[in-house]
Amino acid sequence: MTKNTSESLFERGSKVLIEGVSSASRGPAAFGTTPRYMSHGEGSRLYDVDGREYIDWMMAFGALPLGHAHPKIVTTVTKEIARGSHFATALEVEVEVAEILVNLLPHVEKVRFANTGTEAAMAAIRLARGHTGRRKIIKFEGHYHGWWDAVLLNSNPQPITALGHPNSPIRIPDSSGITEESWMDTIIVPWNDLESLERAMALHGRDAACVVTEGVMSNMGVIAPKPGYLNRIQALCNEHGALFYLDETVTGFRVAAGGCAELYGLKPDIVTYGKALGGGVPMAAIGGSDEIMSGLEWGKVLHFGTHNAGRLALHICKTMLTTMLDDNQAGFIKIKDLGIKLTEEIQAIARKNNKHKMICQGVNSMFQIFFTDQEEISNYRDFCKSVDRLKFRDFALKLFDKGIYMNPSATLHSLSSIVHTEEDIEVTARAISETLDEMP
Ligand SMILES: Cc1ncc(COP(=O)(O)O)c(C=O)c1O
Repeated sequence: MTKNTSESLFERGSKVLIEGVSSASRGPAAFGTTPRYMSHGEGSRLYDVDGREYIDWMMAFGALPLGHAHPKIVTTVTKEIARGSHFATALEVEVEVAEILVNLLPHVEKVRFANTGTEAAMAAIRLARGHTGRRKIIKFEGHYHGWWDAVLLNSNPQPITALGHPNSPIRIPDSSGITEESWMDTIIVPWNDLESLERAMALHGRDAACVVTEGVMSNMGVIAPKPGYLNRIQALCNEHGALFYLDETVTGFRVAAGGCAELYGLKPDIVTYGKALGGGVPMAAIGGSDEIMSGLEWGKVLHFGTHNAGRLALHICKTMLTTMLDDNQAGFIKIKDLGIKLTEEIQAIARKNNKHKMICQGVNSMFQIFFTDQEEISNYRDFCKSVDRLKFRDFALKLFDKGIYMNPSATLHSLSSIVHTEEDIEVTARAISETLDEMP
């Protein structure tokens, strides 16, 4: 059989790249087969090297609130690249973007720019330790804060029998090559389970530099926090003198202009952003009160980086933020409305469908489909026990053939952007219905 261009590229790529790609979620680990190599994107569409068109609901894992090749981003890049890409010097645009963030986010008085969510989380946790003089960090099962050693525990799905008692989860590193010393001070707690957290705080709260949480669990699909749960984490942190670190890498500039802090009325001590902030290029930020952030001043907690606050990235970030915030945050309202509409459409399809047990969970512009016999997936253990990940993968691969692009990993999620349309939603809903009919 003749190979298509994706297949040929995969064959070539596999000789020179690990798994033919540069991150496991893009290659056979997630796809179980040859990934589709993309050539370009425009608006809500991606085009592959074989000329097929897709409505893209992955949007670079949330990095593209304005969609692909938005004219304002294209204009910004074209204009600014001609004046220099990166200087690694102090910049006016650096001050301007920080001012936008400080004005938008009540819990942020000072900002430090970084490049990726992982880097920002590393700096944030070092800052929490430096600020409190404490070693331990409390992290939740199923949450991901980047691929560095201290937090790369219990963030992949595991057989339910491997997890241990919820009062004392077994710590499971997600990678080989991580030494025990690097995660010795990381305490793992089930999320969305107040009793377990209260117990852990009673045991470790006074030694904890911070409790780090995603606002919406977005690395086991999409799982919303139970009402009041995040506020309770914040209160427990305050009671025990631990910092409340809200990782908004996914949810920042996504579930609301002010992320989960705005959506759930929180005042985190430290917050990190990434993904959407960069509008398609690497850009991350750490934020917090003046008092806490001043820990990063020279000679105290160290955070360096040649590419921090890249000139071009900051200009793109400024364009993304001003476009989304324009007209009373119309961009954020639009992605929310579109996300909710598609989630509801899929929920209606799931209810009508007698053949497959499936649900769709969403928070504003984020959503994920779960093949499960449960009515709700509310934590990591539910996910490990009850979500059929292989079935989701087959489903997502079939959707590719109907021109719909969602990442085939059930642990990830889909997202809307301002360039998606009601028609995109209709086409997607129809494709989902047909795919369910066709699936055994
Ligand atoms: C909640 C959260 N924190 C941190 C990260 C790491 O971000 P990056 O991939 O930019 O290093 C991710 C990435 O998916 C994430 O979902």
